[in-house]
Amino acid sequence: MRTILVTGGAGFIGSNFVRMVLAEHTDCVVVNLDKLTYAGNLENLGDVMDDPNHRFVKGDICDAGLVEKVIDDNKVDAIVNFAAESHVDRSLVEPGIFIDTNVTGTLTLLKIALERKLERFVQISTDEVYGSLGVEGMFIEETPISPNSPYSASKAAADHLVSAFGHTWDLRYNITRCSNNYGEYQFPEKMIPLMINNALNDKELPVYGDGLYVRDWLYVYDHCTAIWKVLTEAQPGEIYNVGGNNEKTNLEVIGVILERLGKDKSLIRHVADRPGHDRRYAIDSGKIMSRLGWSPSVTFETGMVKTIDWYLASGKWLDNIVSGEYQKYYESMYSDR
Ligand code: NAD
Ligand code: TYD
Repeated sequence: MRTILVTGGAGFIGSNFVRMVLAEHTDCVVVNLDKLTYAGNLENLGDVMDDPNHRFVKGDICDAGLVEKVIDDNKVDAIVNFAAESHVDRSLVEPGIFIDTNVTGTLTLLKIALERKLERFVQISTDEVYGSLGVEGMFIEETPISPNSPYSASKAAADHLVSAFGHTWDLRYNITRCSNNYGEYQFPEKMIPLMINNALNDKELPVYGDGLYVRDWLYVYDHCTAIWKVLTEAQPGEIYNVGGNNEKTNLEVIGVILERLGKDKSLIRHVADRPGHDRRYAIDSGKIMSRLGWSPSVTFETGMVKTIDWYLASGKWLDNIVSGEYQKYYESMYSDR
């Protein structure tokens, strides 16, 4: 596998993956196709933009002609598809764009991957396709798909298309379903960076509902090493769950942020809940651990310190985001909550 097309490589997880591949797999060329939506940011790639093994192309995965040209010009061997609309709250306001990119965009890539007989198509999916858990149990790869938000429904539709292409035409695919990622370069619409940014500015921390919703937190670098293992070592047609084994309530996570930043719990404000809010996610990563020998390398405590300290040291990166369109987004989501 010499040349991989990474889609969405200017986003949070994609940029961390590009950086990891270029640093640790130096015989690999990464072609990075990203539309640069509000979530795509070339500053996420600052240190690797000049790497001779990295080629950035601005464009849309729904643009079949462009995707074909990028694949042919660069002799791409495999696709890792991160490109997506990725935020649940936005999907409640504007579900259509989630269908365009997450479903139609994935379909566009699948058709071309099949025509070009690519070695592998890895779809980066989410544990949210499984729906919500009660107080007990964990998602395994055989858990029935039961998405609850327009975001997770669009990701589930894409997963079904990927496996249908494998079943019908022998497309060599894998799907990874990970839990909530956290770490460097995450856009501050997601819970952890939003709370860090607000706390840094002594703004209220908007906790949805009772704050006792549970997520399993996965440090982004560990997610990237899991994807690499799947891309290079998995049998085609296999689905892998990837989790951090760090189940926390939202209030517990916020407590860690407040403590590290030396801020007071009085900043917490309980606000109106997210409609249809999934109560709990928990992932059983036993399959990827036993079959591919992957395990997370960073504990939640260490990962949170690294993440919070990175945001503290990245004021310019954060300012460039929060000083623009983000203000309008924040107002529209939180002012009446
Ligand atoms: P992100 O929103 O930070 O980045 C998405 C990237 O995709 C952006 O750079 C954006 O410009 C690009 N993009 C969007 N539409 C595009 C299009 N039509 N064509 C080309 N590029 C386009 O997302 P993320 O958090 O990095 O998530 C990456 C993937 O991982 C997504 O598929 C998401 O569903 C999945 N995922 C994320 C998490 C998480 O915790 N962040 C958890 C599970 C799964
Ligand atoms: P988020 O980061 O949006 O990820 P997801 O919904 O995909 O799991 O949210 C993580 C949790 O934090 C989720 O239970 C919703 C909650 N949350 C808040 O309480 N306040 C907020 O402002 C945000 C963005 C999320």
